[in-house]
Amino acid sequence: IKVPPTAVVIFGASGDLTHRKIIPAFYHLQKNGHLPDGMAIIGFARREQSEQQFREGLRQSLEDFSHTQPIDQSVWTALESHLYYHKGDLSNPEDYVALAERLRTLPEASAFRENHLFYLATAPNFFPVVAENLGKAGLHAREGVTGCRRLIVEKPFGTDLPSARSLNETLHKVFPERCIFRIDHYLGKENVQNLLYFRFGNSIFEPLWDRRYIDHVQITVAETQTIGSRGGYYDMAGASRDMLQNHLMQLFTLIAMEPPASLEAESIRDEKVKVLRSVPTPTSEEVLRNSVRAQYGPGILGGRTVRPYREEDRVSRRSLTETYVCLRLEIDNWRWSGVPFYLRTGKALSQQYTEICIVFHRPPCVLFAHSLKHIARNWLKIRIQPIEGIHLLFNTKVPAQPLIQEARMNFYYRRQDHYFPEAYERLLLDALIGESTLFTRSDEVEQAWRIVDAVQEAWKEEELDRLPLYAPGSMGPVEAEELLRREGRRWGDPPCEEEEQLL
Ligand code: BG6
Repeated sequence: IKVPPTAVVIFGASGDLTHRKIIPAFYHLQKNGHLPDGMAIIGFARREQSEQQFREGLRQSLEDFSHTQPIDQSVWTALESHLYYHKGDLSNPEDYVALAERLRTLPEASAFRENHLFYLATAPNFFPVVAENLGKAGLHAREGVTGCRRLIVEKPFGTDLPSARSLNETLHKVFPERCIFRIDHYLGKENVQNLLYFRFGNSIFEPLWDRRYIDHVQITVAETQTIGSRGGYYDMAGASRDMLQNHLMQLFTLIAMEPPASLEAESIRDEKVKVLRSVPTPTSEEVLRNSVRAQYGPGILGGRTVRPYREEDRVSRRSLTETYVCLRLEIDNWRWSGVPFYLRTGKALSQQYTEICIVFHRPPCVLFAHSLKHIARNWLKIRIQPIEGIHLLFNTKVPAQPLIQEARMNFYYRRQDHYFPEAYERLLLDALIGESTLFTRSDEVEQAWRIVDAVQEAWKEEELDRLPLYAPGSMGPVEAEELLRREGRRWGDPPCEEEEQLL
Protein backbone atom coordinates (compact mmCIF):
# COMPACT_ATOMS: atom_id res chain seq x y z
CA ILE A 1 0.00 0.00 0.00
CA LYS A 2 1.32 3.43 -0.92
CA VAL A 3 -0.30 6.33 0.88
CA PRO A 4 -1.11 9.61 -0.89
CA PRO A 5 1.34 12.44 -0.13
CA THR A 6 0.09 13.94 3.13
CA ALA A 7 1.19 16.49 5.71
CA VAL A 8 0.86 14.97 9.16
CA VAL A 9 0.79 17.44 12.03
CA ILE A 10 1.47 15.91 15.43
CA PHE A 11 0.11 18.01 18.28
CA GLY A 12 1.99 17.15 21.44
CA ALA A 13 5.16 16.40 19.51
CA SER A 14 7.47 16.52 22.50
CA GLY A 15 5.38 13.98 24.39
CA ASP A 16 5.97 10.38 25.19
CA LEU A 17 3.59 8.97 22.60
CA THR A 18 5.31 10.74 19.71
CA HIS A 19 8.66 9.38 20.76
CA ARG A 20 7.63 5.88 21.77
CA LYS A 21 5.02 5.04 19.18
CA ILE A 22 4.35 7.55 16.43
CA ILE A 23 7.83 8.17 15.08
CA PRO A 24 8.86 4.50 15.24
CA ALA A 25 5.64 3.77 13.31
CA PHE A 26 6.59 6.32 10.65
CA TYR A 27 10.08 4.86 10.45
CA HIS A 28 8.64 1.42 9.74
CA LEU A 29 6.18 2.78 7.21
CA GLN A 30 9.13 4.41 5.45
CA LYS A 31 11.18 1.23 5.72
CA ASN A 32 8.39 -0.88 4.30
CA GLY A 33 7.95 1.43 1.33
CA HIS A 34 4.54 2.87 2.23
CA LEU A 35 5.50 6.54 2.28
CA PRO A 36 5.72 8.57 -0.93
CA ASP A 37 8.22 11.39 -1.47
CA GLY A 38 5.79 14.23 -0.94
CA MET A 39 5.12 13.47 2.76
CA ALA A 40 5.80 15.97 5.51
CA ILE A 41 5.61 15.34 9.25
CA ILE A 42 5.34 18.42 11.39
CA GLY A 43 5.76 18.32 15.14
CA PHE A 44 3.76 21.02 16.92
CA ALA A 45 4.73 21.73 20.52
CA ARG A 46 5.50 24.57 22.88
CA ARG A 47 9.07 23.65 23.66
CA GLU A 48 11.76 25.96 22.26
CA GLN A 49 13.97 23.82 20.02
CA SER A 50 15.44 23.91 16.55
CA GLU A 51 14.40 21.59 13.77
CA GLN A 52 17.76 19.90 14.13
CA GLN A 53 17.26 19.28 17.85
CA PHE A 54 13.77 17.93 17.18
CA ARG A 55 15.13 15.48 14.62
CA GLU A 56 17.99 14.39 16.86
CA GLY A 57 15.60 13.73 19.75
CA LEU A 58 13.45 11.55 17.52
CA ARG A 59 16.47 9.68 16.21
CA GLN A 60 17.42 8.83 19.78
CA SER A 61 13.88 7.64 20.54
CA LEU A 62 14.05 5.35 17.57
CA GLU A 63 17.12 3.71 19.06
CA ASP A 64 15.29 3.38 22.35
CA PHE A 65 11.85 2.27 21.23
CA SER A 66 11.87 0.77 17.75
CA HIS A 67 10.78 -2.87 17.78
CA THR A 68 13.32 -3.65 15.09
CA GLN A 69 17.01 -2.91 15.58
CA PRO A 70 19.48 -1.76 14.43
CA ILE A 71 18.09 1.37 12.83
CA ASP A 72 18.67 1.51 9.11
CA GLN A 73 20.45 4.83 8.56
CA SER A 74 19.37 5.20 4.94
CA VAL A 75 15.71 4.82 5.92
CA TRP A 76 16.12 7.37 8.70
CA THR A 77 17.86 9.84 6.38
CA ALA A 78 14.99 9.61 3.91
CA LEU A 79 12.41 10.15 6.67
CA GLU A 80 14.34 12.86 8.49
CA SER A 81 14.42 15.20 5.52
CA HIS A 82 10.61 15.44 5.76
CA LEU A 83 10.45 16.08 9.52
CA TYR A 84 9.73 19.63 10.62
CA TYR A 85 9.20 21.37 13.91
CA HIS A 86 6.63 24.07 14.49
CA LYS A 87 6.77 25.84 17.81
CA GLY A 88 3.28 26.68 18.98
CA ASP A 89 0.95 26.94 21.92
CA LEU A 90 -2.05 24.62 21.69
CA SER A 91 -4.34 27.28 23.14
CA ASN A 92 -3.23 30.13 20.92
CA PRO A 93 -5.32 30.49 17.72
CA GLU A 94 -2.60 32.58 16.06
CA ASP A 95 -0.18 29.70 16.21
CA TYR A 96 -2.59 27.69 14.06
CA VAL A 97 -2.77 30.49 11.52
CA ALA A 98 1.02 30.34 11.37
CA LEU A 99 0.78 26.57 11.00
CA ALA A 100 -1.59 26.95 8.06
CA GLU A 101 0.90 29.27 6.41
CA ARG A 102 3.72 26.83 7.10
CA LEU A 103 1.70 24.04 5.49
CA ARG A 104 1.33 26.15 2.36
CA THR A 105 5.02 26.88 2.07
CA LEU A 106 6.78 23.62 2.93
CA PRO A 107 8.87 22.20 0.07
CA GLU A 108 6.48 19.22 -0.21
CA ALA A 109 3.36 21.43 -0.32
CA SER A 110 2.76 21.02 -4.03
CA ALA A 111 2.70 17.24 -3.56
CA PHE A 112 0.47 16.95 -0.49
CA ARG A 113 -1.72 19.96 -1.34
CA GLU A 114 -4.47 19.94 1.29
CA ASN A 115 -4.15 16.33 2.36
CA HIS A 116 -3.73 16.98 6.05
CA LEU A 117 -3.78 14.51 8.90
CA PHE A 118 -3.90 16.12 12.33
CA TYR A 119 -2.81 13.87 15.16
CA LEU A 120 -4.04 14.76 18.65
CA ALA A 121 -1.28 13.23 20.76
CA THR A 122 -1.82 15.76 23.54
CA ALA A 123 -3.32 15.54 27.00
CA PRO A 124 -7.06 14.89 26.52
CA ASN A 125 -8.15 18.28 27.86
CA PHE A 126 -6.60 19.79 24.71
CA PHE A 127 -8.59 17.68 22.23
CA PRO A 128 -11.49 20.16 21.95
CA VAL A 129 -9.11 23.13 22.09
CA VAL A 130 -7.04 21.91 19.14
CA ALA A 131 -10.12 20.99 17.13
CA GLU A 132 -11.67 24.41 17.65
CA ASN A 133 -8.44 26.20 16.80
CA LEU A 134 -8.01 24.16 13.63
CA GLY A 135 -11.48 25.30 12.66
CA LYS A 136 -10.67 28.95 13.36
CA ALA A 137 -7.55 28.75 11.22
CA GLY A 138 -9.55 27.24 8.35
CA LEU A 139 -7.75 23.91 8.68
CA HIS A 140 -10.92 21.89 9.25
CA ALA A 141 -12.54 19.49 6.80
CA ARG A 142 -14.87 21.45 4.53
CA GLU A 143 -16.10 21.85 0.99
CA GLY A 144 -13.61 23.25 -1.47
CA VAL A 145 -10.51 21.71 0.13
CA THR A 146 -8.24 20.06 -2.43
CA GLY A 147 -7.52 16.88 -0.54
CA CYS A 148 -8.63 15.08 2.61
CA ARG A 149 -8.41 16.51 6.05
CA ARG A 150 -8.50 13.98 8.80
CA LEU A 151 -8.11 13.88 12.55
CA ILE A 152 -6.60 11.17 14.73
CA VAL A 153 -7.69 11.25 18.36
CA GLU A 154 -5.85 9.34 21.03
CA LYS A 155 -7.48 7.83 24.05
CA PRO A 156 -8.95 8.49 26.55
CA PHE A 157 -12.02 9.61 24.64
CA GLY A 158 -13.89 11.30 27.46
CA THR A 159 -14.10 10.20 31.06
CA ASP A 160 -17.76 9.21 30.99
CA LEU A 161 -20.75 9.30 28.65
CA PRO A 162 -21.55 13.03 28.97
CA SER A 163 -17.94 14.08 28.37
CA ALA A 164 -17.57 11.68 25.41
CA ARG A 165 -20.79 13.05 23.90
CA SER A 166 -19.65 16.59 24.33
CA LEU A 167 -16.26 15.80 22.77
CA ASN A 168 -17.99 14.12 19.84
CA GLU A 169 -20.14 17.22 19.35
CA THR A 170 -17.14 19.53 19.41
CA LEU A 171 -15.19 17.41 16.93
CA HIS A 172 -18.16 17.03 14.61
CA LYS A 173 -18.35 20.80 14.24
CA VAL A 174 -15.02 20.71 12.41
CA PHE A 175 -14.61 17.14 11.13
CA PRO A 176 -17.36 14.82 9.97
CA GLU A 177 -17.40 11.36 11.51
CA ARG A 178 -15.80 9.72 8.46
CA CYS A 179 -12.74 11.99 8.91
CA ILE A 180 -12.25 11.18 12.62
CA PHE A 181 -10.00 8.29 13.58
CA ARG A 182 -10.28 7.41 17.29
CA ILE A 183 -7.38 5.24 18.30
CA ASP A 184 -7.73 2.07 20.27
CA HIS A 185 -4.36 0.52 19.69
CA TYR A 186 -5.66 -2.96 20.52
CA LEU A 187 -7.43 -2.94 17.17
CA GLY A 188 -4.04 -2.59 15.49
CA LYS A 189 -2.73 -5.80 17.05
CA GLU A 190 -2.38 -8.64 14.57
CA ASN A 191 -4.27 -11.28 16.48
CA VAL A 192 -7.09 -8.85 17.20
CA GLN A 193 -7.49 -8.25 13.48
CA ASN A 194 -7.31 -11.99 13.08
CA LEU A 195 -10.47 -12.44 15.15
CA LEU A 196 -12.65 -11.65 12.15
CA TYR A 197 -10.60 -13.84 9.81
CA PHE A 198 -10.62 -16.70 12.26
CA ARG A 199 -14.33 -16.49 13.02
CA PHE A 200 -15.66 -15.88 9.54
CA GLY A 201 -12.95 -17.51 7.45
CA ASN A 202 -13.61 -21.01 8.82
CA SER A 203 -16.70 -23.15 8.74
CA ILE A 204 -15.83 -25.28 11.77
CA PHE A 205 -16.05 -22.70 14.54
CA GLU A 206 -18.87 -20.32 13.70
CA PRO A 207 -21.62 -22.95 13.85
CA LEU A 208 -20.61 -23.53 17.48
CA TRP A 209 -20.36 -19.85 18.31
CA ASP A 210 -23.47 -19.38 20.41
CA ARG A 211 -25.30 -20.21 23.62
CA ARG A 212 -26.05 -23.77 22.53
CA TYR A 213 -22.37 -24.75 22.60
CA ILE A 214 -20.58 -22.06 24.55
CA ASP A 215 -20.78 -22.04 28.32
CA HIS A 216 -19.02 -18.72 28.84
CA VAL A 217 -16.28 -16.45 27.52
CA GLN A 218 -13.31 -15.00 29.40
CA ILE A 219 -11.31 -11.98 28.30
CA THR A 220 -8.12 -11.29 30.23
CA VAL A 221 -5.69 -8.41 29.82
CA ALA A 222 -3.08 -9.07 32.49
CA GLU A 223 -0.17 -6.70 33.01
CA THR A 224 2.90 -7.06 35.17
CA GLN A 225 3.75 -3.39 35.17
CA THR A 226 2.79 -1.11 38.02
CA ILE A 227 1.65 2.47 37.59
CA GLY A 228 5.18 3.79 37.52
CA SER A 229 5.24 7.47 36.63
CA ARG A 230 1.63 7.65 35.42
CA GLY A 231 0.03 8.17 38.83
CA GLY A 232 -1.39 11.60 38.01
CA TYR A 233 -3.42 10.30 35.11
CA TYR A 234 -4.15 6.85 36.45
CA ASP A 235 -5.49 7.88 39.82
CA MET A 236 -8.28 9.76 38.03
CA ALA A 237 -8.93 6.91 35.58
CA GLY A 238 -8.50 3.51 37.20
CA ALA A 239 -8.61 0.22 35.38
CA SER A 240 -12.21 0.58 34.25
CA ARG A 241 -11.64 3.83 32.36
CA ASP A 242 -8.07 3.07 31.32
CA MET A 243 -8.65 -0.44 29.95
CA LEU A 244 -12.19 -1.76 30.33
CA GLN A 245 -14.07 0.98 28.47
CA ASN A 246 -11.82 0.68 25.45
CA HIS A 247 -9.49 -2.29 24.94
CA LEU A 248 -11.58 -4.93 26.70
CA MET A 249 -14.84 -3.70 25.21
CA GLN A 250 -13.29 -3.85 21.75
CA LEU A 251 -12.23 -7.46 22.21
CA PHE A 252 -15.67 -8.21 23.60
CA THR A 253 -17.50 -6.80 20.57
CA LEU A 254 -15.25 -8.56 18.06
CA ILE A 255 -15.74 -11.91 19.71
CA ALA A 256 -19.51 -11.52 20.08
CA MET A 257 -20.57 -9.70 16.91
CA GLU A 258 -22.69 -11.16 14.12
CA PRO A 259 -21.08 -11.70 10.71
CA PRO A 260 -20.94 -8.31 8.99
CA ALA A 261 -22.57 -7.79 5.58
CA SER A 262 -19.13 -6.96 4.14
CA LEU A 263 -15.64 -6.04 5.24
CA GLU A 264 -16.46 -2.35 4.83
CA ALA A 265 -15.71 -0.31 7.93
CA GLU A 266 -19.32 0.70 8.46
CA SER A 267 -20.61 -2.87 8.22
CA ILE A 268 -18.16 -4.10 10.80
CA ARG A 269 -18.68 -1.20 13.12
CA ASP A 270 -22.48 -1.52 12.85
CA GLU A 271 -22.22 -5.08 14.11
CA LYS A 272 -19.89 -4.13 16.93
CA VAL A 273 -22.25 -1.41 18.10
CA LYS A 274 -25.17 -3.84 18.01
CA VAL A 275 -23.39 -6.03 20.55
CA LEU A 276 -22.95 -3.12 22.92
CA ARG A 277 -26.54 -2.02 22.44
CA SER A 278 -27.64 -5.53 23.40
CA VAL A 279 -25.93 -5.28 26.78
CA PRO A 280 -28.58 -4.03 29.20
CA THR A 281 -27.40 -1.23 31.46
CA PRO A 282 -26.70 -3.08 34.71
CA THR A 283 -28.51 -1.98 37.86
CA SER A 284 -26.41 -1.10 40.90
CA GLU A 285 -27.31 -4.38 42.49
CA GLU A 286 -26.16 -6.28 39.40
CA VAL A 287 -22.91 -4.35 39.25
CA LEU A 288 -22.13 -5.07 42.87
CA ARG A 289 -22.89 -8.74 42.41
CA ASN A 290 -21.09 -9.07 39.08
CA SER A 291 -17.97 -6.97 39.43
CA VAL A 292 -14.80 -6.97 41.44
CA ARG A 293 -12.49 -4.05 41.90
CA ALA A 294 -9.26 -4.10 43.80
CA GLN A 295 -5.96 -2.33 44.25
CA TYR A 296 -2.46 -3.70 44.52
CA GLY A 297 -0.93 -3.59 47.94
CA PRO A 298 2.71 -4.11 48.91
CA GLY A 299 4.59 -7.14 47.68
CA ILE A 300 7.20 -8.68 45.49
CA LEU A 301 7.00 -8.77 41.74
CA GLY A 302 9.61 -10.48 39.62
CA GLY A 303 11.99 -10.53 42.58
CA ARG A 304 11.60 -6.78 43.21
CA THR A 305 9.82 -5.12 46.08
CA VAL A 306 6.82 -3.20 44.85
CA ARG A 307 5.32 -0.35 46.79
CA PRO A 308 1.58 -0.38 47.24
CA TYR A 309 -0.46 1.60 44.74
CA ARG A 310 -1.32 4.20 47.37
CA GLU A 311 2.35 5.00 47.80
CA GLU A 312 3.05 5.51 44.10
CA ASP A 313 4.01 9.02 42.98
CA ARG A 314 1.12 11.38 42.42
CA VAL A 315 -1.41 8.94 43.83
CA SER A 316 -3.61 9.94 46.74
CA ARG A 317 -2.62 8.14 49.95
CA ARG A 318 -6.32 7.42 50.47
CA SER A 319 -7.01 6.53 46.87
CA LEU A 320 -9.98 4.30 46.08
CA THR A 321 -8.91 3.89 42.47
CA GLU A 322 -8.99 0.32 41.22
CA THR A 323 -5.93 -1.15 39.56
CA TYR A 324 -7.84 -4.36 38.90
CA VAL A 325 -11.34 -4.81 37.57
CA CYS A 326 -13.39 -7.84 36.69
CA LEU A 327 -16.88 -7.56 35.24
CA ARG A 328 -19.44 -10.15 34.26
CA LEU A 329 -21.58 -9.05 31.33
CA GLU A 330 -24.42 -10.64 29.46
CA ILE A 331 -25.66 -9.93 25.97
CA ASP A 332 -29.38 -9.94 25.53
CA ASN A 333 -29.72 -11.39 22.03
CA TRP A 334 -30.56 -14.71 20.39
CA ARG A 335 -26.98 -15.81 19.99
CA TRP A 336 -25.76 -15.09 23.49
CA SER A 337 -28.67 -14.99 25.88
CA GLY A 338 -27.58 -16.56 29.18
CA VAL A 339 -23.87 -16.78 28.30
CA PRO A 340 -21.69 -14.82 30.72
CA PHE A 341 -18.71 -12.87 29.43
CA TYR A 342 -16.13 -12.29 32.14
CA LEU A 343 -13.78 -9.40 31.47
CA ARG A 344 -10.78 -8.73 33.70
CA THR A 345 -7.68 -6.61 33.69
CA GLY A 346 -5.14 -5.56 36.26
CA LYS A 347 -1.73 -4.09 36.90
CA ALA A 348 1.14 -5.67 38.86
CA LEU A 349 -0.07 -9.19 38.11
CA SER A 350 2.09 -12.26 37.88
CA GLN A 351 2.04 -12.46 34.08
CA GLN A 352 1.76 -10.22 31.08
CA TYR A 353 -0.71 -11.58 28.56
CA THR A 354 -3.94 -10.92 26.73
CA GLU A 355 -6.18 -13.82 25.99
CA ILE A 356 -9.74 -14.64 25.02
CA CYS A 357 -11.05 -18.02 26.13
CA ILE A 358 -14.13 -19.53 24.59
CA VAL A 359 -15.23 -22.21 27.02
CA PHE A 360 -17.62 -24.82 25.64
CA HIS A 361 -20.28 -26.73 27.54
CA ARG A 362 -19.20 -29.84 29.34
CA PRO A 363 -20.01 -32.92 27.28
CA PRO A 364 -22.84 -35.08 28.58
CA CYS A 365 -20.98 -37.65 30.59
CA VAL A 366 -23.11 -40.75 30.31
CA LEU A 367 -20.22 -42.70 28.84
CA PHE A 368 -17.58 -41.40 31.15
CA ALA A 369 -19.59 -41.22 34.33
CA HIS A 370 -16.83 -42.96 36.23
CA SER A 371 -14.35 -40.22 35.28
CA LEU A 372 -16.81 -37.36 35.50
CA LYS A 373 -14.61 -35.42 37.85
CA HIS A 374 -11.84 -35.45 35.29
CA ILE A 375 -13.68 -34.55 32.16
CA ALA A 376 -12.75 -31.05 31.24
CA ARG A 377 -14.62 -28.56 29.13
CA ASN A 378 -13.23 -27.80 25.70
CA TRP A 379 -11.42 -24.48 25.59
CA LEU A 380 -10.49 -22.40 22.62
CA LYS A 381 -7.86 -19.91 23.69
CA ILE A 382 -7.01 -17.00 21.45
CA ARG A 383 -3.79 -15.45 22.69
CA ILE A 384 -3.45 -11.86 21.55
CA GLN A 385 -0.09 -11.24 23.18
CA PRO A 386 2.75 -11.59 23.90
CA ILE A 387 2.95 -14.80 21.88
CA GLU A 388 0.14 -14.65 19.36
CA GLY A 389 -1.55 -17.96 18.87
CA ILE A 390 -4.65 -20.11 19.00
CA HIS A 391 -4.96 -23.16 21.22
CA LEU A 392 -7.65 -25.78 21.29
CA LEU A 393 -7.97 -27.90 24.42
CA PHE A 394 -9.78 -31.19 24.11
CA ASN A 395 -10.04 -34.56 25.78
CA THR A 396 -8.26 -37.75 24.75
CA LYS A 397 -7.76 -41.17 26.16
CA VAL A 398 -4.84 -41.89 28.45
CA PRO A 399 -2.83 -44.64 26.73
CA ALA A 400 -3.28 -48.05 28.29
CA GLN A 401 -5.82 -46.78 30.82
CA PRO A 402 -9.56 -46.19 30.62
CA LEU A 403 -9.10 -42.57 31.60
CA ILE A 404 -9.48 -39.20 29.99
CA GLN A 405 -6.80 -36.51 29.77
CA GLU A 406 -6.66 -33.02 28.36
CA ALA A 407 -4.64 -32.45 25.18
CA ARG A 408 -4.03 -29.32 23.16
CA MET A 409 -3.46 -28.24 19.59
CA ASN A 410 -1.30 -25.15 19.33
CA PHE A 411 -0.93 -22.66 16.56
CA TYR A 412 1.78 -20.02 16.99
CA TYR A 413 1.90 -17.11 14.60
CA ARG A 414 5.54 -16.44 15.22
CA ARG A 415 6.58 -19.80 13.90
CA GLN A 416 5.83 -18.39 10.48
CA ASP A 417 8.38 -16.08 9.04
CA HIS A 418 6.23 -12.94 8.87
CA TYR A 419 7.01 -9.37 9.68
CA PHE A 420 4.77 -8.26 12.56
CA PRO A 421 3.92 -4.59 12.27
CA GLU A 422 3.42 -2.71 15.52
CA ALA A 423 -0.17 -1.65 16.19
CA TYR A 424 0.61 2.03 15.57
CA GLU A 425 2.22 1.30 12.23
CA ARG A 426 -0.91 -0.40 11.00
CA LEU A 427 -3.23 2.25 12.43
CA LEU A 428 -1.27 5.17 10.99
CA LEU A 429 -1.23 3.52 7.61
CA ASP A 430 -4.98 3.05 7.73
CA ALA A 431 -5.63 6.63 8.81
CA LEU A 432 -3.41 7.88 5.97
CA ILE A 433 -5.50 6.02 3.42
CA GLY A 434 -8.82 6.80 5.13
CA GLU A 435 -9.63 3.23 6.15
CA SER A 436 -11.58 3.38 9.40
CA THR A 437 -12.38 -0.24 10.28
CA LEU A 438 -9.77 -0.35 13.04
CA PHE A 439 -10.93 2.87 14.68
CA THR A 440 -13.82 3.34 17.07
CA ARG A 441 -16.91 5.14 15.89
CA SER A 442 -18.66 7.79 17.98
CA ASP A 443 -21.64 5.58 18.84
CA GLU A 444 -19.35 2.72 19.83
CA VAL A 445 -17.50 4.90 22.28
CA GLU A 446 -20.72 6.22 23.74
CA GLN A 447 -22.25 2.76 24.15
CA ALA A 448 -19.14 1.51 25.92
CA TRP A 449 -19.31 4.47 28.28
CA ARG A 450 -22.97 3.76 29.01
CA ILE A 451 -21.95 0.40 30.47
CA VAL A 452 -18.84 1.62 32.28
CA ASP A 453 -20.74 4.60 33.72
CA ALA A 454 -23.28 2.24 35.26
CA VAL A 455 -20.41 0.37 36.90
CA GLN A 456 -18.88 3.59 38.20
CA GLU A 457 -22.23 4.80 39.54
CA ALA A 458 -22.84 1.60 41.45
CA TRP A 459 -19.36 1.68 42.90
CA LYS A 460 -19.85 5.25 44.01
CA GLU A 461 -22.94 4.27 45.97
CA GLU A 462 -21.08 1.54 47.75
CA GLU A 463 -19.37 3.23 50.62
CA LEU A 464 -15.87 1.95 51.02
CA ASP A 465 -13.02 3.20 53.07
CA ARG A 466 -10.65 0.89 51.31
CA LEU A 467 -10.65 -1.44 48.38
CA PRO A 468 -9.81 -5.13 48.56
CA LEU A 469 -6.06 -5.43 48.12
CA TYR A 470 -4.26 -8.02 46.06
CA ALA A 471 -0.64 -8.99 46.18
CA PRO A 472 1.58 -7.85 43.33
CA GLY A 473 2.76 -10.94 41.50
CA SER A 474 -0.56 -12.74 42.00
CA MET A 475 -3.32 -13.05 39.40
CA GLY A 476 -5.53 -10.59 41.27
CA PRO A 477 -7.90 -10.65 44.22
CA VAL A 478 -9.54 -13.82 45.52
CA GLU A 479 -12.91 -12.14 44.96
CA ALA A 480 -12.41 -12.53 41.20
CA GLU A 481 -11.77 -16.24 41.63
CA GLU A 482 -14.86 -16.41 43.79
CA LEU A 483 -17.02 -14.67 41.17
CA LEU A 484 -16.45 -17.57 38.81
CA ARG A 485 -16.30 -20.29 41.42
CA ARG A 486 -19.78 -19.54 42.70
CA GLU A 487 -21.04 -20.18 39.16
CA GLY A 488 -19.16 -23.47 38.88
CA ARG A 489 -16.38 -22.04 36.67
CA ARG A 490 -12.73 -21.10 36.94
CA TRP A 491 -10.34 -18.77 35.19
CA GLY A 492 -8.15 -20.28 32.50
CA ASP A 493 -4.58 -21.05 33.47
CA PRO A 494 -2.09 -18.35 32.47
CA PRO A 495 0.37 -19.35 29.76
CA CYS A 496 3.11 -21.44 31.28
CA GLU A 497 6.79 -21.08 30.57
CA GLU A 498 6.91 -24.50 29.07
CA GLU A 499 4.33 -23.40 26.54
CA GLU A 500 6.40 -20.43 25.54
CA GLN A 501 9.52 -22.51 25.27
CA LEU A 502 7.78 -24.61 22.66
CA LEU A 503 8.60 -21.82 20.29
C1 BG6 B 1 -2.94 1.74 27.41
C2 BG6 B 1 -3.20 1.95 28.87
O1 BG6 B 1 -4.03 2.19 26.65
O2 BG6 B 1 -2.74 0.37 27.15
C3 BG6 B 1 -2.05 1.38 29.70
O3 BG6 B 1 -3.34 3.34 29.13
C4 BG6 B 1 -1.79 -0.05 29.33
O4 BG6 B 1 -2.34 1.49 31.08
C5 BG6 B 1 -1.63 -0.20 27.83
O5 BG6 B 1 -0.61 -0.48 29.99
C6 BG6 B 1 -1.55 -1.66 27.44
O6 BG6 B 1 -1.21 -1.78 26.11
P1 BG6 B 1 -0.36 -3.02 25.58
O7 BG6 B 1 -0.32 -2.83 24.11
O8 BG6 B 1 0.99 -2.91 26.24
O9 BG6 B 1 -1.09 -4.24 26.00
